[in-house]
Amino acid sequence: MKTLVIGPGGREHALALALSRDPGVSEVHVAPGNPGAAAVATLHDVDAVDPDAVADLAERLAVDLVVVGPEAPLVAGVADAVTARGIACFGPSADAAHLEGSKAFAKEVMAAADVPTAMARVCDTLEEVSEALDAFGAPYVVKDDGLAAGKGVVVTDNRDEAVAHALACERVVIEEFLDGPEVSLFAITDGSTVYPLQPAQDFKRIYDDGEGPNTGGMGAYTPLPWASENLVAEVLDRVLQPTIDEMARRGTPFRGLLYAGLALTRRGVRVVEFNARFGDPETQPLLALLDSPLGTLLHAAATGRLHEIPVPVWKSGAAVAVVMASADYPDTPRLGDEITGIAAAESIDGVDVIHAGTRLDDDGRLVTSGGRVLAVTAVRGSVADARTAAYAGVAEIEFDGAQHRTDIAAGI
Ligand code: AMP
Ligand code: GLY
Repeated sequence: MKTLVIGPGGREHALALALSRDPGVSEVHVAPGNPGAAAVATLHDVDAVDPDAVADLAERLAVDLVVVGPEAPLVAGVADAVTARGIACFGPSADAAHLEGSKAFAKEVMAAADVPTAMARVCDTLEEVSEALDAFGAPYVVKDDGLAAGKGVVVTDNRDEAVAHALACERVVIEEFLDGPEVSLFAITDGSTVYPLQPAQDFKRIYDDGEGPNTGGMGAYTPLPWASENLVAEVLDRVLQPTIDEMARRGTPFRGLLYAGLALTRRGVRVVEFNARFGDPETQPLLALLDSPLGTLLHAAATGRLHEIPVPVWKSGAAVAVVMASADYPDTPRLGDEITGIAAAESIDGVDVIHAGTRLDDDGRLVTSGGRVLAVTAVRGSVADARTAAYAGVAEIEFDGAQHRTDIAAGI
């Protein structure tokens, strides 16, 4: 099978690496990719949010499967354009990707499917904002109703800050605060059959102990030894299957990866958000532990045949990914700092360095080119051992201003 992964980041490098390790996959192409993906795939230049350009590339390369990584190309209709050329595409149509693209739409679908989530109000005026803030009380949760990769959300005890964020949003959703640990549970689906993956946990804030602003994610691990054995079955039954069935009922079947961001509150599981794509950085440890051939799985989902293949199976043990971010992330990150030590990190048993924001400069040096630069990912027999190995990898890698959390998967 020939495959093409769309997107420039860490998730796309992780997807390309896992595809390259699938014996059923003969070719892996990535567009636009990064120097990490270049080690396991052929890179191509493409404007990832131009549906026709992506479909042209897929046709020219005669691939059997296109896998779309980020949300922006999905919302732009890349999956629709690729499918229209008769090429299998893992990733939802633009209509189905609305589940991530609009928080208000996601709330509507959840209400129709009786999926447990935070109470929420969509507000259009300052008066409505004020009323909603007072009705739910502090901590205030204020969300921009659009694509923001986790960065359009402010959670604060400060009412003035909550109002200021609401005023800066185009359309604002105000929610009840959900307490309790967060879990990322991903499912691969062909629009009717749903195969959940192992649960993972992501660390969203920039600093240790969950301090500082939200980021795209500073680290992740899987599995969650502390989670209840029933968690996956319960989420499949209460959240994933009803959502997929509701999307099909509406005539916009969701094919691809449904990402359920969950809060395990005292009153039970609640959906914090849906995403229409693999999460980053959870994908790095998840794919490192996946024992099933990824290409087969994604192709079956893209062609409506998921029920014909076995459910995903996992290696024993655990995987931990620690993100290294550039100076000043998540504000305006400083770019162009030289990165060293990746080979030394990868010489540690079980460690892969997954590139996100890296590029080669004119002199062929590897330099930072994005906020999240790379994720050091380690597989070992336990979370604690995988964490030790991942941090041993981090200690080998240097670039000016590098930031990482020191508490990823700590105490698990
Ligand atoms: P979202 O973009 O909706 O995933 O939100 C990003 C992050 O904000 C989440 O991962 C949570 O940490 C936090 N968050 C969002 N909604 C809530 C909520 N209702 N209660 C508590 N925290 C939330
Ligand atoms: N890890 C958070 C996200 O992918 O949105």
